[in-house]
Amino acid sequence: MTDLAEPAEQVVVRVGLAERAYDIVIGSGLVEQAGALIAERLPGVRAAIVTDRNVAGRHLSRLKSGLDKAGIDNVAIELEPGEKTKSFDALRGVVDAVLAARLERGDIVIALGGGVIGDLAGFASAIVRRGMRLVQMPTSLLAQVDSSVGGKTGINSAHGKNLVGAFHQPSLVLSDTDVLDTLPEREFRAGYAEVAKYGLIDRPQFFDWLEKNWREVFAGGAARTEAIAESCRAKAEVVARDERETGDRALLNLGHTFGHALEAATGYDGGRLVHGEGVAIGMALAHRFSARMNLASPDDAERVEAHLKAVGLPWRISDIEGELPGADGLLDYIRQDKKVSRGALTFILTRGVGQAFVARDVPASEVRSFLAEQIER
Ligand code: GLY
Repeated sequence: MTDLAEPAEQVVVRVGLAERAYDIVIGSGLVEQAGALIAERLPGVRAAIVTDRNVAGRHLSRLKSGLDKAGIDNVAIELEPGEKTKSFDALRGVVDAVLAARLERGDIVIALGGGVIGDLAGFASAIVRRGMRLVQMPTSLLAQVDSSVGGKTGINSAHGKNLVGAFHQPSLVLSDTDVLDTLPEREFRAGYAEVAKYGLIDRPQFFDWLEKNWREVFAGGAARTEAIAESCRAKAEVVARDERETGDRALLNLGHTFGHALEAATGYDGGRLVHGEGVAIGMALAHRFSARMNLASPDDAERVEAHLKAVGLPWRISDIEGELPGADGLLDYIRQDKKVSRGALTFILTRGVGQAFVARDVPASEVRSFLAEQIER
């Protein structure tokens, strides 16, 4: 971890993927500086900015004037906010608008928004002219520490979320930490679950640091920049080892198997549970389940639960308001998740804080009885 006594204005994290390597720039004022930063790294490009109406209202004119000043010709494509936008219809609209603007393969799509915009615009950039360049400008904490980094892009299908997509690495990621100041607190907190996740996967010192510094991370400034940068370093390391998720990248799904099942069980009703909250409960359950399987000490599960509770995140199933299915119903949702391979359950389990591992062939009967206990907590 960086010494916070000397806060850095901007931090650059490199994603080491040989000819597809790129920088993630994290810091204050990047919406205004984007034009200059892009012109320096990708000279001569034209740009299509893909964004949603909410984000456009807050940040688009500042981004456009920086691009204009840097001589980057640009058009903006504004979409409806919300998960429904990750659809074939919206994709067609973006693809047609980029083509209508006569952008070429070497030009850029700028994804200015949260995870929905990043995934959709990223996928459009992967398929227009067989692959244009992409600049991610994530505006939510979740997008800054997870979805904008690593090249997963895609849309939803009637069969499920993120089932249509491509791996397409960006050429540059610009994470402006100031834009997080206007996020609703619940959304920031939910994104924080993914920050804590990196400590729990393989960075125990980062988790120690978060336990001491989470208030400063929420407040903004140097601690927030450092937490985002350390999360990006952690993700970049995993992605560089296993870009296409044939092995270790699955570790990034810590908390996601239980979390996705809970999200599905609430009918994806964001009023009851948003993604990061599902991940928070899922991470607590993964630690508790690991203790039950005698893989880790119950003290670690308690430590994780205590931290999630301290920051105001939900950590147990009963923290979700309203009716939920019983253990069998939740197990059915787990089976439907794409992390099930030929019927065997795959979970990310742990030997303790910062020691997560991929566990294949987890017995469904153990998961069922564990869930039955946990529903009662
Ligand atoms: N969000 C998980 C991954 O990028 O692999």
